[in-house]
Amino acid sequence: MSTSAKTEAPTLETRGLMKSFGAVTAAHDITVSVPERAVWSLIGTNGAGKTTFVNMVTGYLHPDQGTILFQGRDITSLGPREVTRAGICRSFQIPQLCSELTVLENVLVALAIADPKPPSFFRKARESEAEDRAMEILKRFRIEEHRGRLMTELSAGVRKLLDIAMSMCGHPKVMLLDEPTSGVAAEEKFPIMDLVMEALAAENVTTLFVEHDMDIVTRYSDRVLAFYDGRIIADDAPDEVLGDPQVQRYVTGTAPAEATS
Ligand SMILES: Nc1ncnc2c1ncn2[C@@H]1O[C@H](COP(=O)(O)OP(=O)(O)OP(=O)(O)O)[C@@H](O)[C@H]1O
Ligand SMILES: [Mg+2]
Repeated sequence: MSTSAKTEAPTLETRGLMKSFGAVTAAHDITVSVPERAVWSLIGTNGAGKTTFVNMVTGYLHPDQGTILFQGRDITSLGPREVTRAGICRSFQIPQLCSELTVLENVLVALAIADPKPPSFFRKARESEAEDRAMEILKRFRIEEHRGRLMTELSAGVRKLLDIAMSMCGHPKVMLLDEPTSGVAAEEKFPIMDLVMEALAAENVTTLFVEHDMDIVTRYSDRVLAFYDGRIIADDAPDEVLGDPQVQRYVTGTAPAEATS
């Protein structure tokens, strides 16, 4: 189900991103050029710098050095809200959902944030329009049956889908998914990825996702960036990256015994 990049123009570029936290270098010279409609995965062991990269691209962290360009525009110094408005949205390693609200209400909040309009005489009509749109989004992710439930009543998989569904409310051009299947039951992983990837492909969204499960990486991405110690140590097609001895040694732990000695 891999979706090939259909044009060569980069939609997202990073040049020489550097980020340190005290003595820890979380990003060292991170340079990537992501074509429109690409589906790339980001792999690496714990602490390799994947979330730091996602945080920098989405404005949650500012790099110490380097530049981030989106459709040719320098967005390096923008904050998260401005980056989202520009067209780059994200999901989180731990879904950011409001536990006091129902599934439907969470989506309505996401829609209101994505499309804030001043009060109007047509408020009632607008509310019902928003509810229709929210139900459409829930149906697309096949979670409409949960619309009246609170977060505590949902499985990890449904919470992940809801978080991603809410990020789609802003009609992103680029989506960064931080571990979309972490904490999800093994049998739910592929169905969740099928739904998410179909929804993103239907809207031509360029997608980068962080993933630890190599079966998912191979099945859904065109290209893989392998992070180790704040650096990208391999950047190529999935088979190439997963066959790379450095990646096998430092990332996947699949190197033959003699190569690791
Ligand atoms: N806000 C922060 N303050 C201090 N150190 C941080 C901060 N964010 C990340 N780090 C450190 O930067 C390094 C990279 O962290 P990052 O969260 O990017 O890793 P990751 O690849 O996403 O790991 P994981 O697979 O565990 O999510 C780690 O050593 C981490 O402890
Ligand atoms: Mg992370």
